[in-house]
Amino acid sequence: MRAVLASRNAHKARELERLLPGWQIDVLDADDYPPESGATYYENAHGKAEFARRRAPADAWVLGEDSGIEVDGLGGGPGVTSSRSAAGDEVGWMLGALAGARGDARRARYVSELVAIGPGGEELRGTGTLGGRIADEASGSEGFGFDPVFVPDGEERTVAELGDEWKARHSHRANAARALLREAG
Ligand code: IMP
Repeated sequence: MRAVLASRNAHKARELERLLPGWQIDVLDADDYPPESGATYYENAHGKAEFARRRAPADAWVLGEDSGIEVDGLGGGPGVTSSRSAAGDEVGWMLGALAGARGDARRARYVSELVAIGPGGEELRGTGTLGGRIADEASGSEGFGFDPVFVPDGEERTVAELGDEWKARHSHRANAARALLREAG
């Protein structure tokens, strides 16, 4: 199945291609993405998918994905505003925001919302989460964004150390993709 992903993030396209076997995923070639101003991950993911629907070939599926990180010591933030808050320096922003925070204040979860719209307008969606905590310092080189400071539940290493193979099996995006595929039947 051919699909066009509305994202500037090439990491996401590579991850999704591994997560959706049989889907060939191209990144939408556009430089005028609308702002991510929705109140929920779903609104943003749906908005991205609709944007792609208007531009992608009529016979292709389109995909929109929105994700974020929710940290207990930050009142569940930055959540849906994660990319705007961290402004490209996710690791520096997070370590600064949690300076001096200990224990449960460092508990966190990644959230991913995935929306697919088919050639006839049919919609599939999937939500996925991954629980963990924010490390005291960054380590590892794989993944992107907050991965060098995110230690998943049951693990001692960060997602950036655990690597892309681990991420393809366990990440919030992997869980969202599985949920979407269940809907697809
Ligand atoms: P967006 O979904 O592209 O708006 O990304 C939201 C924010 O969460 C950005 O700062 C991303 O870097 C971050 N983010 C999303 N998914 C991941 C992930 O899998 N690992 C690390 N950071 C992520």
